[in-house]
Amino acid sequence: MQEPESAAFKIRVCMGGRCRMNFAEDLLKIAQKAAGESASVAVEPRPCLDQCEKGPNVEIVQAPAGEAVQILNGVTPNQMAQLSRSLLEEKA
Ligand code: FES
Repeated sequence: MQEPESAAFKIRVCMGGRCRMNFAEDLLKIAQKAAGESASVAVEPRPCLDQCEKGPNVEIVQAPAGEAVQILNGVTPNQMAQLSRSLLEEKA
């Protein structure tokens, strides 16, 4: 797995209780599989985003600045796969 510090983007999937109940673990696995050994996109879990009612939630962070550029709510497995691919293509 890539070192998060070298990635251009981080996909951070909320692993808070409500998001986990809404299949956030599946989203994490989809993103990890899509990113594979990429050094440009890192995938990691994150704590609750305090937007529980809108979950499952995913945060996109531009690294290394560490600033969240987008928070996505109600992410579906298809959206997660598409997002992962588009970030990988953007930094390929
Ligand atoms: S559990 Fe995911 S935003 Fe709170």
